[in-house]
Amino acid sequence: MRIGVLTAGGDAPGLNAALRALGRRALADGHELVGVHDGWAGLVGEVNEIELTRIDLAGILARGGTMLGSVRVNLDEPSDLHESVLSNINSHYDAVVAIGGDGTMHVASWLAAHGAPIVGVPKTLDNDLCDTEYCIGFDSAVSTVAEALDRLHTTAASHHRVMVLETMGRSTGWVATMGGLAGGADLIVIPEFALSMQEIAQHVLNRHERGSTFSIVVVAEGVPLESLGGHDPRDATTDGVGRVQYSSHSVGHFVARGVHRLTGFETRSTVLGHLQRGGSPSAYDRIWATRVGSAAYDAVLDGDWGAIPIVRSARVERARIDQVIARVNTVPRELYELCTHFF
Ligand code: F6P
Repeated sequence: MRIGVLTAGGDAPGLNAALRALGRRALADGHELVGVHDGWAGLVGEVNEIELTRIDLAGILARGGTMLGSVRVNLDEPSDLHESVLSNINSHYDAVVAIGGDGTMHVASWLAAHGAPIVGVPKTLDNDLCDTEYCIGFDSAVSTVAEALDRLHTTAASHHRVMVLETMGRSTGWVATMGGLAGGADLIVIPEFALSMQEIAQHVLNRHERGSTFSIVVVAEGVPLESLGGHDPRDATTDGVGRVQYSSHSVGHFVARGVHRLTGFETRSTVLGHLQRGGSPSAYDRIWATRVGSAAYDAVLDGDWGAIPIVRSARVERARIDQVIARVNTVPRELYELCTHFF
């Protein structure tokens, strides 16, 4: 078989580990392995691909980013671009494995519905795909947030300050919640459970009244400014595919200014940004990216087009691509409530 593989959407630690797992097994079985450069962009017009050998896959397990590159292409609505991708897949490959998040899986779903031999692999730092307990990159991002919070704790304590940390996550609060839990945040503000600026400030005041000399507040980038008494920009900055660029709202700075105004405490804000996406994958991401990458190869062998390996109860299972994008996976109330016990 001639197997194509691509990584699409935002990069995340663990992509190379999945590529390596899939690729090593495919090459060991004598198949041809072809890497598509820059995600779907590599399949629009003239195919942009590279033949991969075992040597190419050596030493990439611990490497962050994606060795294949990823360029965001606007494929939200079916268009000529979809037709171009479909025709290239059908004429160049016996199977294509697409590693990506919700945007990627929407395209993969359309392709599967139009007869393409395609298999997905779940990747998203935002952890917003549903039906799977594992998405490549999320654990590494959470570890980065936890480490940042450890660092912020020592400087916050030294200066008796309120520190606000803004995390990624788009419209969900998974990175903020799990990172905040791991890093001992004193308050976590996420889109799923809105808090007003007054409530945030009051919480900080209460802590200080109880004897705390500093506070650490984690804010997810997708918290609407309107829920905090501000105004979401009408002409919001968008990324290369027309999606809102949440970081441009600067919600972390907004919260820091509000807390200072309402409490009088010295306050600083940090935007963790793409540090959450860069660098080496965690051990957990290396292991599970390897497992889902390998399972994607099994799906290819079975000709199970439209399938995607997912994790349920710590076991790799197989679902349909449509399933993981059926809704946005949001932080459940019981998890958020657990965090509130430690605020
Ligand atoms: O979807 C992953 C993600 O890192 C989001 O958390 C973030 O909002 C966005 O991508 C940033 O994208 P870009 O790389 O275009 O700045």
